[in-house]
Amino acid sequence: MPLVTSTEMFKKAYNGGYAVGAFNVNNMEIIQGITEACREEKAPVILQVSKGARAYANRTYLVKLVEAAVIECPEIPIVLHLDHGDSFETCKSCIDDGFTSVMIDLSSKSFAENIEGTKEVVKYAHDHGVVVEAELGALAGVEDDVKVSAEESHYTRPEEVEEFVSKTGCDSLAIAIGTSHGAYKFTAAQCTRDPATGELLPPPLRFDILEEVVKRLPGFPIVLHGSSSVPQNYVKMINSNGGKMPDAVGIPESQLRKAAESAVCKINIDSDLRLALTGTVRQYFNEHPDHFDPRQYLKPARANIKELVRHKLVDVLGCNGKA
Ligand code: G3H
Ligand code: 13P
Ligand code: ZN
Repeated sequence: MPLVTSTEMFKKAYNGGYAVGAFNVNNMEIIQGITEACREEKAPVILQVSKGARAYANRTYLVKLVEAAVIECPEIPIVLHLDHGDSFETCKSCIDDGFTSVMIDLSSKSFAENIEGTKEVVKYAHDHGVVVEAELGALAGVEDDVKVSAEESHYTRPEEVEEFVSKTGCDSLAIAIGTSHGAYKFTAAQCTRDPATGELLPPPLRFDILEEVVKRLPGFPIVLHGSSSVPQNYVKMINSNGGKMPDAVGIPESQLRKAAESAVCKINIDSDLRLALTGTVRQYFNEHPDHFDPRQYLKPARANIKELVRHKLVDVLGCNGKA
């Protein structure tokens, strides 16, 4: 089937008590790892491209690689989504390039400016059959060249969501309930230590805010950004093969599972894929210092991305078998 929008996907996810995975893509191997897992698990999927990814690969390559995945995986629905679009121009350029979904992220602006800017994108997108994700609240963490400190971050205010959605006409809403971008989501001071394992435990997500939002927007698809769990096996693999990533802590998968069963229809995962790729390549070079063929070290990286995505689909998102 051709690229789809997320409209039907979100309806089914909302009613079925699961979430669709939205995975960031930057190159062929990442796209293949994700979509092969989704095809085998019969899962719908959102492939998302950030402004940075678009600048890295240029505006043509990633679209064409995603189109190749659509040809290779005709039995699963695939959305091509712009992640964190920061202007009307970026969103328009993606819509004109064939994206079926865009995010306009004006969450750092005032409430009024966020509404005005989002409305403009919604008008153009809807006129072209494309859906729009918007955001209220500010996640902490690093995303592209934007760093939001813990002090600057703030949770979504549930009392704002109805006005925002009705005035903008957006199709889904990203909210801030304590997730965070990147591999270093929390400082050690924000965490407690598990007395048994010594592992850092992050503060729990604010499910009370999510519940308030859902009460005010019944049936409306909610999105969670910054939802990597930062798998410790890959952090260890990186650190034991010459890397240095102390205290990288993510969102516990049990909390994401709980979110996926609620109105959260889309869960964004990027950092975990990066960790799997980097850990695998670092280990490969340590074990094969004389190798220099990219196919040799990217092959196991792609395989590990595939298995990581399979685990997310089955054990975290619950979207396997839902294509
Ligand atoms: O939230 C942002 C995503 O992790 C994309 O990151 O802008 O470095 O491609 P990027
Ligand atoms: P992570 O950094 O937690 O993977 O979040 C990705 C994200 O939100 C992309 O928009
Ligand atoms: Zn994000």
